[in-house]
Amino acid sequence: SWTMKGFIDEAVETIRKQVGEEGRVICGLSGGVDSSVAALLLHRAIGPRLQCIFVDNGVLRQGERAQVEALFVDRFHVPLKTVDARERFLSKLAGVTDPEQKRKIIGREFIAVFEEASRDVQDAGFLAQGTLYPDVIESVSWKGPSVTIKSHHNVGGLPEHMKLKLVEPLRELFKDEVRVLGRELGLPPEMVGRQPFPGPGLAIRVLGEVNEPRLDLVRRADAIVQEEIHKAGLYGEVWQAFAVLLPVQSVGVMGDERTYESTCVLRAVTSVDGMTADWARIPFPILEKISSRITNEVRGINRVVYDISSKPPATIEWE
Ligand code: XMP
Repeated sequence: SWTMKGFIDEAVETIRKQVGEEGRVICGLSGGVDSSVAALLLHRAIGPRLQCIFVDNGVLRQGERAQVEALFVDRFHVPLKTVDARERFLSKLAGVTDPEQKRKIIGREFIAVFEEASRDVQDAGFLAQGTLYPDVIESVSWKGPSVTIKSHHNVGGLPEHMKLKLVEPLRELFKDEVRVLGRELGLPPEMVGRQPFPGPGLAIRVLGEVNEPRLDLVRRADAIVQEEIHKAGLYGEVWQAFAVLLPVQSVGVMGDERTYESTCVLRAVTSVDGMTADWARIPFPILEKISSRITNEVRGINRVVYDISSKPPATIEWE
């Protein structure tokens, strides 16, 4: 739309004015819509003076890192540094089962890793964030602090000596406007229409202890959920759909063998803003497909249950 084109021109002007002719900007990419749109807008304004950073924290979904790299490096030629911090996060998470503790650890490590990576960026004077208007007026509240750098909750968490000035080109926009802007900037529809994914990632979707074997189970189950929800044409209809791994084993049977394996929850909700939510009435054939694929393809999961709780009193996530 012409209004959005006008917005882009104006935003580009504003960014150039703030950053100047020489200034370099660091931008944390999370794989989500907001940071992606912010990065593309920045790139349009200052080109190679933008340096994006993507942290692989070991609790990403299947293919997430590859998708971010394909999109930003191969397609948009945006300077991107991927930090492989999987070991570091997973060693800190070892043995931790408390949800708030998981969030704190991931938040803390993210800031440390991000800061280290930023130090290598010569002459960076600015930090870009995909803060939206609702973040500014604080209408969104989570159970804990977000770990994505985009959230205003984390601005105060960045070390004082980083001395970076904030660039927040989306701070007057609502989510639906950010999606329109993203489309206008050439972001592919699958990225523009992305369902929210929490900063603490799969760590809060593996109930109980977070380790590589358990992450592998939830990651593979979740990949099947994503694929089938897409195939059924339901991705845009639901607010979020995902798999959760329970710390519960149950008896099953495979061939003439008794099994004793993990239980996986399928969670799918409809919602307008995440504040309240209803469980999605996914058609039985789709549920059947997802369940049989998970139990057949993911060795270690022998039971799939569907969560039929609304929010409130339940929450969307299980932790
Ligand atoms: P709940 O589970 O509170 O989730 O109903 C509401 C929305 O927030 C997301 N969520 C988070 N996002 N950091 C995030 O960045 C978090 O710690 C976090 N916890 C929940 C959740 O996915 C849903 O969209």
